[in-house]
Amino acid sequence: MKNYITTPIYYVNGEAHIGHAYTTFIADTLARYSRLVGNDTYFLTGTDEHGQKIEEAAKKLNKPTQQFADEISATFRNLWDEFDISYDQFIRTTDADHKIGVQAAFAKMYENGDIYKDFYEGNYCVSCETFFPESQLMDGGCCPDCGRATSIVKEESYFFRLSKYERPLLEYYEAHPEFILPKSRRNEVISFVRGGLTDLSVTRTSFSWGVHLPETLNEPKHVMYVWLDALMNYATALGYGTDEAKMAFWPANVQLVGKDILRFHAIYWPAFLMSLGLPLPKHIAAHGWWTRDGEKMSKSKGNVVDPREVSNHYGVENFRYFMMREVPFGQDGDFSQRALIDRMNSDLSNDLGNLLNRIIGMSEKYSDFNVDSKDVAQYHAKELSDAHESLKAAENYLFELQPHRYLEELWRVFTIGNKAIEEHAPWVKIKEGRNDEALATVALVANLLAKASVLLHPVMPQTTTKIADALGFEITTDSYNALIKNGALLNPFTIKKIPPLFPRIEEPLMAEAPKAMIEEAPKAEPKPAMVDKKETTLSEEGLITIDQFFQTSIKIGTVLDAEEVPKSSKLLKLQVDLGEETPRQIVAGIREYYSAQSMIGTQVCVVANLKPAKLMGLLSEGMILAAKDADGLSLVRPEKPRLSGSSVG
Ligand code: ME8
Ligand code: MG
Repeated sequence: MKNYITTPIYYVNGEAHIGHAYTTFIADTLARYSRLVGNDTYFLTGTDEHGQKIEEAAKKLNKPTQQFADEISATFRNLWDEFDISYDQFIRTTDADHKIGVQAAFAKMYENGDIYKDFYEGNYCVSCETFFPESQLMDGGCCPDCGRATSIVKEESYFFRLSKYERPLLEYYEAHPEFILPKSRRNEVISFVRGGLTDLSVTRTSFSWGVHLPETLNEPKHVMYVWLDALMNYATALGYGTDEAKMAFWPANVQLVGKDILRFHAIYWPAFLMSLGLPLPKHIAAHGWWTRDGEKMSKSKGNVVDPREVSNHYGVENFRYFMMREVPFGQDGDFSQRALIDRMNSDLSNDLGNLLNRIIGMSEKYSDFNVDSKDVAQYHAKELSDAHESLKAAENYLFELQPHRYLEELWRVFTIGNKAIEEHAPWVKIKEGRNDEALATVALVANLLAKASVLLHPVMPQTTTKIADALGFEITTDSYNALIKNGALLNPFTIKKIPPLFPRIEEPLMAEAPKAMIEEAPKAEPKPAMVDKKETTLSEEGLITIDQFFQTSIKIGTVLDAEEVPKSSKLLKLQVDLGEETPRQIVAGIREYYSAQSMIGTQVCVVANLKPAKLMGLLSEGMILAAKDADGLSLVRPEKPRLSGSSVG
């Protein structure tokens, strides 16, 4: 069976953090499992290198864009190599073959009528040569950058007929309930599509760092929209549009993504594939978000957990085990060293490590390291069948993309082993001269360790190779078939003494990351940061002094980044530069009036000395000023751009 597994291709606008590592660990586990059971497997990862964001990031550093992309892409690849990620291909969207493939796809969509040329209409500032959305314009429709008048201009753009695929997509989701995993995310996508799909602008003329349109269209000004370019990587990696031999791996079995990019993968991507006449992947699997102390990790906040640092201190396989075991697939998880240490001590050192040490010790004492499985079935039929049941259940959980359950079931096998030793106390039996029984228990446990290690191999490849070595066997497709599929036991074998694999850890090994700016944020009810409040203490006449007014520090802030807050229809999460060392995170209830995209790069007025609050679990370090009336809400902004951090008053 052919089995194609992919990760997202990561943007080269910053180095990898533990979120990227998490996706890659899970994908690597699936690929290793697939190879273990004997599937013809192809595992793809890589980097996403085009678009305005990358162009600008390179410009800031005064580097040629390609060189910048080369450098960051290499940091991802090097990290995966250090982590022994078993990818078969590391694709880059700047690869020549990829670009040819994307152009071929574009040409095909164009030929079959799914791409058409139209106009994108908006407010244009001639002197800045930029379109601005309505929401960003200053009074009188003036340019937010230079203050000059803008005019309505139409820009050419090619559009993909996404609207045409609304019904086919809904029918597909209906007919393939396993397409979007976990199933809880499926409804989210379905209701989004039911809300109506509009055609997608798939070319841009405002920047040039991207894949150009097919030459036959003769459109040198246009480059492709970065998501069309990026999503196509899953097909171009197999040679779509160039050498198509590897297309035999298509359709993909599992395409892993974070929940942040599920929509692109569950809506745009299948629509593109339908347009190209290609079958859809079997599963798009979206995992949750890793946070640090409840906060999204971001470089500017200094709370990013560096995966290399974790690996250097705790070992990459323990780290991998922790991430997959700790958080149910699909849910968010919080990284803490304490949780990692607890998992290592209890699961790895206590349950698994001790079991192995006991077996090594007992086999040495009772039988000079020689173990024979011949009496296991006679004395331990129940333990064996319970263990086989758990192993079977474990595999089913992996098919359902529940790696945490997979590991949980494997640990049941270790528990069965530990219990058998307690209950059957081989040391007592030896004293009583019932050697066969004692040795059968030792052999049972050795077999349980061997079997569970075979299935643990995809998660902890090197560690389990050491365990297998101690138990005198090798983890291969043959041993998988024998020990797991056929329920066989190890032949007479000799155990090897090895040093303990999982020393206990008492204290955190890494220096704690700098604490978030505010230690204890008061737990506030979820309420928008920007609300008109009437609870201020006024003087008797209802007036304040100028000094009182100046107790409020209002500053000009520039919005560096904006995102929708998941599960909230009102909130946007903004990263706002107030001219301080690091930007502030501000959660504002403006989503009904301003899209995240339209906020980026604009200026706002911020109450800068407000006590931080938590909104929907997110720290908000300030409040944005806005005015509201029956017609809606308008942000209060400086008439002309001012330096970030300038005082208002
Ligand atoms: O979105 N927790 O790239 P990207 C969990 N280039 N996973 C996380 C995470 C976190 N805190 N942060 C990142 C892009 N990830 C596009 C993808 S695909 C055709 C194009 C992981 O560098 C998670 O898998 O922003 C998420 O989907 C991905 O990194 C986003 O990486
Ligand atoms: Mg991202």
